[in-house]
Amino acid sequence: MRASFPKNFYWGAATSAHQVEGGNTNNWTEWEKANARRLALETKERFSALPMWSRLKGVMRDFQNYISKDACDHYNRFVGDFDLARSLGHNAHRFSIEWSRIEPKEGVFDESEIKHYRAVIAALRERGMEPFLTLWHWTLPLWLSEGGGILHPKFPEYFERFAMRAGEAFGGEVKFWITVNEPEIYCLNSYYRGIWPPEGRGLVAYYRALSALIAGHRRAYSVLKNGRSNIHVGASLNLSWFESAGGWHDDFLKMLIDQIWNFHFIKRVRGTIDFIGLNYYFHNRIESGLNKNANERVSDLGWEIYPEGLYRMLMELKRYQLPIYITENGIADMYDALRAEFIREHIAAMERAMKDGVDVRGYFYWSLLDNFEWDKGFWPRFGLIAVDYTIQKRTIRASAQEYAKIITSHREGLLGP
Ligand code: BGC
Repeated sequence: MRASFPKNFYWGAATSAHQVEGGNTNNWTEWEKANARRLALETKERFSALPMWSRLKGVMRDFQNYISKDACDHYNRFVGDFDLARSLGHNAHRFSIEWSRIEPKEGVFDESEIKHYRAVIAALRERGMEPFLTLWHWTLPLWLSEGGGILHPKFPEYFERFAMRAGEAFGGEVKFWITVNEPEIYCLNSYYRGIWPPEGRGLVAYYRALSALIAGHRRAYSVLKNGRSNIHVGASLNLSWFESAGGWHDDFLKMLIDQIWNFHFIKRVRGTIDFIGLNYYFHNRIESGLNKNANERVSDLGWEIYPEGLYRMLMELKRYQLPIYITENGIADMYDALRAEFIREHIAAMERAMKDGVDVRGYFYWSLLDNFEWDKGFWPRFGLIAVDYTIQKRTIRASAQEYAKIITSHREGLLGP
């Protein structure tokens, strides 16, 4: 099987600007300042059932855990971080550019920040790592969030203009573009459940926000592709394999949820998407109308470890006949006890799907570094590389070396008998 493993397969890890860069000023930094103390007070109800509670409750109760501030200082340390990724055998890297840096005022683009991201891309290229650029990973410039954010009537146009400028600036160096990251998760948390900025609530807001992102994606696709025949534009979607326990009502619910959650975006952007970016974390078992996962193995966040779900999800995506990149797959695992096995099992599931005809072309572990995990703050540890935030020290975890071995063994397999 190894010998037939695709030659140009991309292996790497993913990050997002706000979670690693540090020093940002955007809608999230404002929200963090306003909500950190509340989040610290709510830790017991949110986290006390988790395995890490007794060990980490001190950190969870500290309001500073909820303020991104310097994050991993990756903005200044990207060269060293990419050296580490390269040393681990990565030949690709997914990252996002920060809209609030590039367009800090409406219609005003900051050339020095564009230069910064050019340097980021050049650093990747110099190390033989293919850049996968995400335009938007959840944060907004203040001028936009204060003017209504995603629900601003001109959001699709603004996003198009941003994409156009990014295309002009980086289009020569970046072949793979991801317009939006996890539109469903963002709209769910920011517009339906109201737990992320701007704390919208309700189905109408959810649907309007999702439609705005779909419109933004379509416009970004057109401007990016215009005159650039060699680039590929997709989106990263957080999809979950919904497993029916078998009753007719569970089958029916699965069909419904699949349409709403997994396939809605793909259907609405048909013709304006060159590949599917799949972010896979866990599956959902539907039993008697309820979500009932066995949760035999869980991460520090209590998320189920279920590699079979990745296989099943990939098989369900086969119908679209589009190339697939796994743009995120990872585990919060502070002691690095489960990560190596997690990676091994998910890659095996991916390979099985490839053998069964799914066109997967890349795998990006989430994340290269420990980072700022949105409303949960810094305590969940997803990184292949551990970060000591007090002194910004990086330590390669043992699982990262295991992942490196998997990468090498797949490459060596190529070299023939
Ligand atoms: C997001 C990341 C996040 C990860 C782990 C994904 O939903 O794209 O930004 O850190 O999950 O929660």
